[in-house]
Amino acid sequence: MADHNYDYDVLIIGAGPGGYVAAIRAGQLGLKTACVESRETLGGTCLNVGCIPSKALLHGSELFEEAAGGHFATWGITATPKLDLSKMMAEKTKAVGELTGGIEFLFKKNKVTWLKGHAAFEDAHTVNVGGEKVTAKDIVIATGSNVTPLPGVEVDNAAKRIVDSTGALDLDEVPEHLVVIGGGVIGLELGSVWRRLGAKVTVVEFLDQLLPGMDGDVRKEAQKIFKKQGIDMMLSHKVTGAKVAGKKVALTIEKSAGGDEQTITASHVLVSIGRRPNTDGLALDKAGLAVNKRGQIEIDHDFRTSVPNIWGIGDVVPGPMLAHKAEDEGIAVAENIAGLTGIVNHDVIPSVVYTAPEIAGVGITEEEAKERGLSVKVGKFPMMANSRAKANRDTDGFVKVIADAETDRVLGVWIIASLAGTMIAEACIAMEFGATSEDIAYTCHAHPTHAEALKEAAMAVTGKPIHM
Ligand code: FAD
Ligand code: NAI
Repeated sequence: MADHNYDYDVLIIGAGPGGYVAAIRAGQLGLKTACVESRETLGGTCLNVGCIPSKALLHGSELFEEAAGGHFATWGITATPKLDLSKMMAEKTKAVGELTGGIEFLFKKNKVTWLKGHAAFEDAHTVNVGGEKVTAKDIVIATGSNVTPLPGVEVDNAAKRIVDSTGALDLDEVPEHLVVIGGGVIGLELGSVWRRLGAKVTVVEFLDQLLPGMDGDVRKEAQKIFKKQGIDMMLSHKVTGAKVAGKKVALTIEKSAGGDEQTITASHVLVSIGRRPNTDGLALDKAGLAVNKRGQIEIDHDFRTSVPNIWGIGDVVPGPMLAHKAEDEGIAVAENIAGLTGIVNHDVIPSVVYTAPEIAGVGITEEEAKERGLSVKVGKFPMMANSRAKANRDTDGFVKVIADAETDRVLGVWIIASLAGTMIAEACIAMEFGATSEDIAYTCHAHPTHAEALKEAAMAVTGKPIHM
């Protein structure tokens, strides 16, 4: 039952993986719950224009590449695939529709009211949704993030020439030459999609390496693999301007440190230089809130903002911008509001890049260990020596385990392998339970599986892998 003073016990702003999960859990806990979402469909960035459509296109494009000369040829299968791009896009749209519809079903099942419209605070307990005042005892801000703009390079998704990730998920032709600005997760995933479908792809990255934040060995290996796959890299470069002329875009590029200006011509440009929190139009000040220097809403360990009845989760608060992090925070915040103890272990949040091979990591990098003055032992095992990878002819990559030199506790695991995104879950469980590398090494793993490479990398921490 709602507190008699308020329309709802909990009002959640935003129905992405943070907000919709918080709403469902709040409903499960018997709280009278509403979720405000301004999009036409539930699921936020992730389901509508992020995780799901990108993974659908990564899957479809991988099948195309395999058939067009990838593993099909290796296995003596001859095929001449023909791409029907509109069918591929339609299948992606179907997957998105099924999943966003699924959230609507779950809202009904858990008695969550969807308030359609844009929410803006009137005070700490009142939100205006499309001219209507709605009050709640507790309010959760789960408004997510949007694309960071690049001055001089104007995104116009409707024109389909200079696009952001949303536009790149919806092109109606395969680019002749796609220039990707930013060699991070989005750039490499969506760059891979269009390369596999036939585009020439050039990645312009400000730093001297791809994938900031990942372990150094992984970044080096990833760079080699993407280069081998045919992606051109312009590292330590930045784009300073872009001009559209008909079906071409002229890009001015210079070295990150300045100088050596050059012009390259592309048919399409993807701007993927990061994302920033969504707080515009929320009228945070009316609730007594402000954002930090990075535009985020600060929270404490329990996800509470500086205003006691207002909470924050997901991309709009500090931490990695990942759907599973938002989801776990969604569960925890609802439990805290209900008077239970909701906790997220932010030291064990995996991240996965869904390219081929996949790239995954959890915990600290070797570089971070050094910066923090930690003494660590490292075990590495190449997929080349893993029997299943060898049998499948997909031997790119390795597994790296970083353990505390004294206690042997696992502090980080980094993987490049076709199934890295699935393999990393085992590392997360191990780390969540405070496992040592020896614990993983003495755990029986099914043979032949890619997962055995994690066991062997754990054995390598003490210098005793079997197959190397
Ligand atoms: P969001 O999903 O952004 O949802 C916030 C919602 O709030 C939005 O629907 C928005 O419309 C709504 N909203 C905002 N302000 C208001 C308001 N004032 N009133 C009403 N509604 C409002 N992460 C992964 O973990 N794995 C992946 O594979 C992955 N792939 C991605 C691919 C792409 C192309 C992109 C762009 C992102 C990807 N991400 C991925 C990141 C992931 O999508 C985000 O981390 C996640 O969606 C964040 O969830 P959230 O609930 O915080 O916010
Ligand atoms: P990102 O932060 O991963 O990468 C941005 C890249 O752009 C960085 O390498 C950065 O150095 C570079 N850059 C910044 N300014 C530049 C400039 N002016 N010129 C050239 N390069 C420049 O951000 P991205 O790829 O946009 O993704 C945004 C967020 O979405 C990420 O935080 C990620 O967590 C999330 N995401 C997660 C996915 C997953 O989990 N598989 C998939 C896609 C997105």
